[in-house]
Amino acid sequence: MIKTGIIGIGRMGRIHLENLCTQLSGVEVLAVMNPGKEGQQFAEKWGVPIITDDADLVIKNPDIDAVIISSSTPFHADYAIAAAKEGKAIFCEKPLDLHLEKVKEALDIIEQHKVPFMLAFNQRFDPHFNEVKEFINSGKLGDLNAVHIISRDPAPPPLHYLQSSGGLFLDMTIHDFDMARHLIGSEVMEVFAKGSSRNYPEIGRIGDIDTGYVWLTFENGVTAMIENCRATNYGYDQRLEVFGTKGMIKTENPLKTTNQYLDAQGVHLSRNQDFFMDRYTSSYLLELKAFFHALVHHIPMPVTGMDGLKAMEIAIAAEKSRLENRPVRLSSQ
Ligand SMILES: NC(=O)c1ccc[n+]([C@@H]2O[C@H](COP(=O)([O-])OP(=O)(O)OC[C@H]3O[C@@H](n4cnc5c(N)ncnc54)[C@H](O)[C@@H]3O)[C@@H](O)[C@H]2O)c1
Repeated sequence: MIKTGIIGIGRMGRIHLENLCTQLSGVEVLAVMNPGKEGQQFAEKWGVPIITDDADLVIKNPDIDAVIISSSTPFHADYAIAAAKEGKAIFCEKPLDLHLEKVKEALDIIEQHKVPFMLAFNQRFDPHFNEVKEFINSGKLGDLNAVHIISRDPAPPPLHYLQSSGGLFLDMTIHDFDMARHLIGSEVMEVFAKGSSRNYPEIGRIGDIDTGYVWLTFENGVTAMIENCRATNYGYDQRLEVFGTKGMIKTENPLKTTNQYLDAQGVHLSRNQDFFMDRYTSSYLLELKAFFHALVHHIPMPVTGMDGLKAMEIAIAAEKSRLENRPVRLSSQ
């Protein structure tokens, strides 16, 4: 039985806690830390033995083998550092921190203490996107030319979340940067980004954007274009397309149901799924399974701290590009 503690029980912490309690055998949630009562009450429902607002009671608990960090972003790195020093395996929500120096410091300490560490880029475990990767690996698409990723949320998170999120590129596009790297299998050479806050001027007032466009040029010559928006009126929109010399593969949005209603006006389909909790349900479970599988079998984690660092460097270059309205080369930021 791997004894686990979770730090931060908000939207993501609840998904992880529920998955750990209901879907993973061989794992026991021994402790949960959350500063607010709401998260603690949620943990009570699942009968977690230790529920606290003191992170040390999780991190320094000698019975705990693995720590899941799903607090608000600015606390990830300090918790990861503390957990590494206690020799715990770490599964950490993205991004590891908002500052590159802090990420490097945390990764160095994780390395020194030789603890298993996985960054939660869940979309790599999505069965639709995973099949796209398999098509690429099989050679069926030939040589890749371009990748196009569209990721649009139905509505923005609250302003207090956005204020500590690091901005659209670090908070949201970071998944797409990782996906583009993962699919293309090369490193980004140059970034050009644009953005606006026409939908939510209040997001503009805190220095962030609600819509972003990023063009990436990879070292192997493949290009990727990423489109993000914090709001749609048609639900969650998560699509991608990979275009190669032998063919093209694209992932469309799974709809809420597969029903079709036909009438004199035409054929009507169901609506897009609501948000990440519905669309990525299986990926959240599969990423946890992958983490514990790697832990038990002493094999490398499927997503590393270096993957997190690379995606972050792209996000920082994208923000620089947007602010300076020019392409930014990654090596010369
Ligand atoms: N992988 C994904 O698809 C995905 C989706 C959403 C969010 N996230 C990431 O997950 C993390 C949490 O996001 P969320 O949407 O659950 O946010 P949230 O605001 O719903 O939850 C954050 C939780 O952290 C708690 N918290 C605040 N300060 C804390 C502290 N000092 N120590 C411990 N806990 C603290 C809050 O009380 C809250 O319960 C963020 O880093 C975010 O980037 C990932």
